[in-house]
Amino acid sequence: MYQFAPDPGQPKAELYEDLAKAAATLVAGERDPVANMANLSALLWQFVPQLNWAGFYRMVDGELVLGPFQGKPACIRIPLDRGVCGAAAASGTTQLVEDVHAFPGHIACDAASRSELVVPVIRDGQVLAVIDLDSPEPARFDGEDAAGIERLAALIAPLL
Ligand code: SME
Repeated sequence: MYQFAPDPGQPKAELYEDLAKAAATLVAGERDPVANMANLSALLWQFVPQLNWAGFYRMVDGELVLGPFQGKPACIRIPLDRGVCGAAAASGTTQLVEDVHAFPGHIACDAASRSELVVPVIRDGQVLAVIDLDSPEPARFDGEDAAGIERLAALIAPLL
């Protein structure tokens, strides 16, 4: 049994430090990509407050396909020219969206979502997946969140 105990009151830098350590512990010695993405989704859900969705979309034959996640059922396939996830995958760059209603082409999988952070998972210059976090709070995410999730993306990139 794994028992991680995030402290919701701790500063973000510490929270992401603890999250990175927990994630490294979980994926150590495990090569199965679905198992690792599933556990990282669960960790994100447990550690990062104010989320209504957290998980992965994988690049499959040139489009994003839903992977392991926590939250409500979500749209299954996302073309690269659609949505915040598509923008992250097409550009290979983190997308930090303070107001999803102002993002052209945003895909509302959950009407409660107000802000979003999407980080590409890149190995050898190829986008293999994206990590998507949604929040019902406007402007929920900042540079510290982006840096914390980019660290997770770097951890899982060799394992996908
Ligand atoms: N909002 C995303 C779609 C995925 S769901 O949020 C889970 C987007 O615009 O790409």
